[in-house]
Amino acid sequence: MFVGIDLGTSALKAVLVDGDQQVKGSHTHPLRVSSPHPGWNEQAPEDWWTALLAAMDALAASCPREMAAVKGIGLSGQQHGAVLLGRDGNVLRPCILWNDVRAAAQCATFEHRFAQSRQICGNMAMPGFTAPKLIWVAQNEPDIFVATRHVLLPKAWLRYRMTGEMIEDMSDASGSLWLDVGNRCWSDGALAATDLTRDAMPALVEGTARAGVLDAGLARRWGMTTRPVLAGSAGDNAAGAVGLGAVRAGSSFLSLGTSGVAWVTTDRFRPHPQGGIHAFCHAVPDMWHQMGVTLSAASSLAWWARTTGMGEAALLAELPDRITRPSPVIFLPYLSGERTPHNDGDIRGVFAGLSHGTTRADMTQAVLEGVAFSFRDVVDVLADAGSVLHEADVIGGGSGSRTWVSILASVTGLSLHRLAHGEQGGAFGAARLARIAVTGEAVGAVCLPQQRKETLHPDADLAGAYASALARYRALYPCIRSAMT
Ligand code: XUL
Repeated sequence: MFVGIDLGTSALKAVLVDGDQQVKGSHTHPLRVSSPHPGWNEQAPEDWWTALLAAMDALAASCPREMAAVKGIGLSGQQHGAVLLGRDGNVLRPCILWNDVRAAAQCATFEHRFAQSRQICGNMAMPGFTAPKLIWVAQNEPDIFVATRHVLLPKAWLRYRMTGEMIEDMSDASGSLWLDVGNRCWSDGALAATDLTRDAMPALVEGTARAGVLDAGLARRWGMTTRPVLAGSAGDNAAGAVGLGAVRAGSSFLSLGTSGVAWVTTDRFRPHPQGGIHAFCHAVPDMWHQMGVTLSAASSLAWWARTTGMGEAALLAELPDRITRPSPVIFLPYLSGERTPHNDGDIRGVFAGLSHGTTRADMTQAVLEGVAFSFRDVVDVLADAGSVLHEADVIGGGSGSRTWVSILASVTGLSLHRLAHGEQGGAFGAARLARIAVTGEAVGAVCLPQQRKETLHPDADLAGAYASALARYRALYPCIRSAMT
């Protein structure tokens, strides 16, 4: 029996998976993001801990027999956030999250100080990544920077609380901008650019390795008969890939989660930083991946639901069963800036083309289409980077909407597979990593593909209309940029 824990942005999820890879129990605890200034996004690590205890306590209460038999725990987590710890391991300030864009100016400083960063770290410096955040802290909160002894990514901090050990895996570490991604080790040059050394970094392991043993008190609290081993684990997208079986070169998926991700597994380090493509280590040894990220995907619909005071399901129910024309309204989903392809922390979203006749349904459709257009931008840059997609699995909360996935298929030109159990995401992949760490089974034997529910193909009748709408969408970015920033 294995547990997978996914520290997301809007919720923490824990799943219990048996030896036949069946999910025996699952519990989700919500999380809130605080935005004290426009473009800032923070969470208190202690809230993650409260959520972890709540989710695991609930699993222990609902599945006591299964929890008693847990042998391994895997962790998946939102990437890039900076948890700063002082001398005693105390948290010094709220975690600055992956979708926080305050450190835009510090990206240029980082690349200036470490001229080889794009080749070695495999990525353009982006404000969401961890290293520029530390330069921001040094410049704006110098007392906190001076007090900082260790920097952990979000789920590594959960591991620290669960085991007392500071350990990080390759896939999550790739998003820090401190990793030499090709050689899978910390880069002294990148650390020096932020006035840090390896002393501030956790030990590095592969995602499939053993990485700590659960604290005896927690094992007792959850009714476990032995102290489970923790796996090396993974960033949430890499854990999602493991859960989907996307562990061979060329396997791909789109994630319609809080952020939107287009992922391709590669068998070597293939950086393509100029288009904003991320080249990271995979969660499994000797594999890497390319991915592009659009910052506000399902979170765009969540924002629209909050703004209209409607539930997401109610908004979606106002749309026709089959979309036959693009919305007359265009939405740019840059609610907290954009990564791929623009790397622009200052840009913000817009609705364009409103009239007296515009309905709420037109605007909802525009939100879904705007996110699909931003995916199309990502898919096109991935093609420039040598990863041409024709089809992909689609996971994440947004994949629950057939309408949204069919729009996504028509806009991107990809055949998209909806999965029978796509909603388990990173937590299920983390449980698989725990199993590999405990049993030593081969990656390929454990990371089997997921069952597909249906495949949605691009709608040929809509292709021409969407091509025109995409051109309008793309033309708006430079206009909004010059008018609003
Ligand atoms: C990936 C990224 C997001 C977060 C969301 O680079 O920033 O997908 O990991 O949890």
